[in-house]
Amino acid sequence: MTAPRSRLTEMLGGYRRTAAVYLAAALGIPDLLIDGPRSGLELASLTGVGEERLRQVLRALTALGILGQDPGGRFFLTETGDLLRTDHPESLYGQAIYFGGLSYRAYGGLHESLTGGGVAFDHVFGIGYYEHLDRHPELAGHYHKMIALAPGMAQLIDGLFDFRPYRTIVDVGGGNGSLLTEILTLSPAARGIVFDLPLAADAGRKTVADRGMGDRCDVVSGDFRIAVPPGGDVYLLSRVLANWSDENAVKILSNCRDAMGNDATLLVFELLMPERVAEGAFAVDGDLNALAHFGGAVRTRSRFERLLAEGGFHLAEVREVLPGAHWSLLRCVPEAVR
Ligand SMILES: C[S@@+](CC[C@H](N)C(=O)[O-])C[C@H]1O[C@@H](n2cnc3c(N)ncnc32)[C@H](O)[C@@H]1O
Repeated sequence: MTAPRSRLTEMLGGYRRTAAVYLAAALGIPDLLIDGPRSGLELASLTGVGEERLRQVLRALTALGILGQDPGGRFFLTETGDLLRTDHPESLYGQAIYFGGLSYRAYGGLHESLTGGGVAFDHVFGIGYYEHLDRHPELAGHYHKMIALAPGMAQLIDGLFDFRPYRTIVDVGGGNGSLLTEILTLSPAARGIVFDLPLAADAGRKTVADRGMGDRCDVVSGDFRIAVPPGGDVYLLSRVLANWSDENAVKILSNCRDAMGNDATLLVFELLMPERVAEGAFAVDGDLNALAHFGGAVRTRSRFERLLAEGGFHLAEVREVLPGAHWSLLRCVPEAVR
């Protein structure tokens, strides 16, 4: 067990590591080392950064184990550093850019947002999260890759709810359509609508085309705070509500309710916060991210019940997607048919 003082000191220095990894990625250093080691001078000329200043960063990356130095003093990528190459099959380059250039900065606004109101991200960037992504398509690309659900998640969700009897499934905030197209593969008679912001439409259309679903799945653009496509018999809100304040979450739920007939079902797929957490609890990372980026939250079951009731739903059932993982499918029915 590490001594309390060392543990705390390590926590206090976390910002340096995030910043150094971000710099490596943002300066393109990993890709410059794909073909072999390079000297500090070469890297300085290729990145356009002054040699002495770049050396400070290269030394920090070496101390972190991202770079190594050969006997001639040239820098090379370690196995860890390799993961920052853009061509690596398991590349974390996009995460380095996203966490270091966006999340990390947003967290800097948390204190101001907690004491003065508003959303941390908006304080720092001057605009909302999704507007910012809209203006930075490259960042939006990293975001959509990063949030892609793990392969197999659709099968797990499908195992908890039988979509086969339903005709039209509307995935509200459906992102790049990967979840819905997988569900449609498992339910061959159903049709689908991926509904998301215009910024996600290209990615959605590409997934639908790549999976040969053009005749069964439409991609519709809009804002779920204003309205949601009507006429579906199952509505899915997967990993959407955590990104919104209670007030906006109720608005989104009410818009779903308005679009739904009394017999339709709403499925909410979210991480559930346990009523009490212990050290190392994993849901808190998502919770702080939601707070910093959106003023949202990973909610407990009882908080969901309250929000759903305000949005016009009754929480009929909660099923954990994987035991102990807290990812859960909430089956909700419109209030009128309770
Ligand atoms: C965390 S992602 C979840 C994506 C997908 N449902 C999943 O589980 O993989 C949240 C999604 O909400 C979408 N979104 C955000 N604001 C929106 C709005 N006002 N109207 C519609 N979609 C929105 C985002 O573009 C993003 O695709």
